[in-house]
Amino acid sequence: MMQVAILGAGVMGHALALVHALGGCRVRLTDTHGPTLEAAPALMAQALATLRDAGETDRDPAWLASVVTTHTSLAETVANAELIVEAITEDAEAKRALYAALDPHAPRDAILASNTSYLDPFPLMPESRRHRAAIAHWYTPPYLVDLVDVVAGPRCDPEVPQRLRDLYAGMGKHPIVLRRFVPGYIANRIQAVIAMELYTLLDHGVADAAEIDAAIVHGLSLRLPLLGHFMKADFTGLALVQKALAARMVPPPPPIRRSEALDRLIAAGATGVMAGRGFYDYGSADPAALFEERDRRLIALKRALKEIGSMIR
Ligand SMILES: NC(=O)c1ccc[n+]([C@@H]2O[C@H](COP(=O)([O-])OP(=O)(O)OC[C@H]3O[C@@H](n4cnc5c(N)ncnc54)[C@H](O)[C@@H]3O)[C@@H](O)[C@H]2O)c1
Repeated sequence: MMQVAILGAGVMGHALALVHALGGCRVRLTDTHGPTLEAAPALMAQALATLRDAGETDRDPAWLASVVTTHTSLAETVANAELIVEAITEDAEAKRALYAALDPHAPRDAILASNTSYLDPFPLMPESRRHRAAIAHWYTPPYLVDLVDVVAGPRCDPEVPQRLRDLYAGMGKHPIVLRRFVPGYIANRIQAVIAMELYTLLDHGVADAAEIDAAIVHGLSLRLPLLGHFMKADFTGLALVQKALAARMVPPPPPIRRSEALDRLIAAGATGVMAGRGFYDYGSADPAALFEERDRRLIALKRALKEIGSMIR
């Protein structure tokens, strides 16, 4: 059983502990914030129950407690780790301090994989860790979204990304190996460009949030799971794609750095599902129930897509 240490038990950390446990690993989880660490087992159990109810696993809470343990000591968490997954706050100094603190306690050849979103973690790692330094970047909720971005550090043993790719592919995930680190990787960079266009349309009053979402759900998103972007271009015909680019049929989004619509909602306390209100009004719905509903629908969508099959092999 692969020994895995997960550092940080927040939004991503507790879910990554569950993912690695379901993938056959023995997991030790730590967090410097006591209440977050204490809350992690219940959050994992809730996500496990959703997966179990949907028939995705037959694992039960007793099994979970036997393969994931929580620890307040960093030294104890990493002592026998073969893989260390860093999922702490996105802050360079916090990450640098953690890498230095774990260094004397972790096995020399443990893989150190950061879940960083946009900070380059490699210059923050001590010299002694760089031969096993990588990124394994997940998407929330990682027990349902299969994409994992794997990046090797500049002086990393080439075996490391291969090992991470094999490990996660073996868990039924979909790892891709990027040749170098770019903040946001691929999916989030595309989403960032889409977001700029969407907020521009919204702020300029072209359509409201629900109409824009309808264009995504009923139009844009329908063919993406089957064809991705480049195969869709093949179906369109590449000469036409080239002409469309030349004609600037779709002008590039202006580089906006904030949205008036977001400012208004945030100022009104409508910060999203957790607040009961964001672009949409969730009334008195329990956020946990909304997350569960999202997870159930994601599972159903994944199953349908698996049955239909993508055209990208
Ligand atoms: N939230 C997402 O959707 C998402 C997706 C992909 C990647 N990420 C990345 O994953 C990382 C974690 O993000 P999150 O959303 O889970 O954040 P979070 O704030 O929910 O959790 C981070 C946790 O790290 C803990 N922490 C801080 N310093 C620590 C230390 N030295 N040792 C142990 N624990 C420590 C904090 O107490 C906190 O509980 C970040 O790098 C983030 O950019 C987040």
